[in-house]
Amino acid sequence: MSTSESKPSQSLAALGVHSAEQVQSLFAEVRQQFDSQAGNVTDENSWKAFRDAWLARKSGVFTLVTDNWLKPASPDLKRSVGAALNELRKHVDSEIEAKRLSLAANAEGNAAAKDRVDLSLPGVIRPVGSPHLIRQVFQEIEDIFFSIGFSVAEGPEIETPYYNFEALNIPEHHPVRDDMDTFYLELPKGAPGPLLLRTHTSPVQIRTMEKRRPPIRVIIPGKVYRRDNPDATHSFMFHQIEGLAVDSSITFCDFTGTIDYFVKQFFGGNVKSRFRPSYFPFTEPSVEFDASCVFCGGSGTAGSGNTCSKCKGSGWIELFGAGMVDPTVYKFVGYDPKKVSGFAFGIGIDRLAMLKHGIDDIQVFFQNDVRFLRQFP
Ligand code: PHE
Repeated sequence: MSTSESKPSQSLAALGVHSAEQVQSLFAEVRQQFDSQAGNVTDENSWKAFRDAWLARKSGVFTLVTDNWLKPASPDLKRSVGAALNELRKHVDSEIEAKRLSLAANAEGNAAAKDRVDLSLPGVIRPVGSPHLIRQVFQEIEDIFFSIGFSVAEGPEIETPYYNFEALNIPEHHPVRDDMDTFYLELPKGAPGPLLLRTHTSPVQIRTMEKRRPPIRVIIPGKVYRRDNPDATHSFMFHQIEGLAVDSSITFCDFTGTIDYFVKQFFGGNVKSRFRPSYFPFTEPSVEFDASCVFCGGSGTAGSGNTCSKCKGSGWIELFGAGMVDPTVYKFVGYDPKKVSGFAFGIGIDRLAMLKHGIDDIQVFFQNDVRFLRQFP
């Protein structure tokens, strides 16, 4: 402690103060000391220490001044010591309170600054995805058929054998059931059944015809399931779009014309289509539609001069099955086979997407690898 700081511990006589003027300057000195200490108060702790140094009852400056200067002062000095002490006290009280307020305001400001949302910070980037390639191809095919008057119908993925087979003219022991090698559901005892995962979208043909009268022009997109072992061209789940048109006088020409239109819209105007005889229990006649190979332009020879690996040199790529609706099917839905005719087709979407985009492994559709997905934004 400097001499001046220790002054309140001494008596006025010991300090050599005998006149009112000396009292004035002594108090001025103390006040100055107070003001300079106030400048060092920066936070709550230093403020408390400062307040106690001046106001603490036991050994604060004011207690000392009262005890050592005021109380023992000679009668002629007492007045001026008392007045100066009061004045100093007012100054000290108001300064200490002002200091407290300004510290509190600062603290509030600091907290607010901490809580403030900093709009200049980069946000959390949530990557926006895009429709899966399969979904995009669905959309593209749907749009082509919308443009010629078809609309979308849908049906359940869990089916009864009646809709998946019988009503499509596939009776219980028909050999084509073997090809479908189906997933049956394990049902609780006593539940009505059996139920299976549909093997094709064709059951929705039946469901649609049951609900509606001709004219019908629908496409039926959806998932189908077969017990296939996964490889580059097989998956236990894949996607189809079924097509069905039934009216009073639909001909084979309407059928091939529609398919040809679709193939050209989807693969390009230069692509040729052809159909070959085939067999499905629910179409008669049945055909298999081919498109001229989109990789070698139908020549069967790749750019390198080698045989085109995609069509194996034939110049044609098998696309999907189709046919004129078998009259037997109409009987299952209460249509008069003599009065209506129509055609149906079942397009494998995954296969079409692979052909169009040069993808040689169906599994990449289901692996969710963003490096693949990003190529089709
Ligand atoms: N449902 C048949 C299949 O999945 C495809 C098909 C549909 C064939 C409609 C003819 C008519 O193989």
